[in-house]
Amino acid sequence: MRLAVFVSGGGSNLQALIDRFRDSDVVRIELVVSDRPNVKALERARAAGIDGVVAQDPAGILPLLEAHNIDLITLAGYLKLIPADVIRRYRGRILNIHPALLPAFGGKGMYGLRVHQAVLEAGAKESGATVHWVTEEYDRGDIIEQRRVPVMPDDTPESLAARVLEVEHQLYPDVVETIARQLCQQH
Ligand code: GRF
Repeated sequence: MRLAVFVSGGGSNLQALIDRFRDSDVVRIELVVSDRPNVKALERARAAGIDGVVAQDPAGILPLLEAHNIDLITLAGYLKLIPADVIRRYRGRILNIHPALLPAFGGKGMYGLRVHQAVLEAGAKESGATVHWVTEEYDRGDIIEQRRVPVMPDDTPESLAARVLEVEHQLYPDVVETIARQLCQQH
């Protein structure tokens, strides 16, 4: 499966995918797409010898994916909506990871520390990470898998984010591997 990873920032989830699939016979990370130049995620791609492309024009994304024969897309901290033509062409082949237990604490504007701030303000006793299918709406596609972490009484948004991120780095490669194997079998 030829994988494209969409990023907007630090790319620690991209790194977890790179590390997991470096020698994989199931998944090959073919392309990293960023909506912004000069982000750390693009450096990580370059260091791993993966093509990194800055796509500021949404109309250019589908042709780019097709030119690289991409089979599967993972969003990893990508902050833009995926263009409708890409969703149509890749329905059931686009995954996202969200740093909370969806359907709670998701939707437009819920990203970064704001998610963890909202979890703390709600007094939630646990949080976690969710991998779900991507549809036209932010954070609304069917949930594939979630992993939970406790919320500690003295948590700050930063400390909770760090605990959730650690879980993300296991969960996302696990789910991508499972889905990629399933898609291979359908081929
Ligand atoms: C992660 O918390 C992910 O769940 C969310 O954005 C963050 C990206 O972090 N969608 P990174 O760029 O992978 O470090």
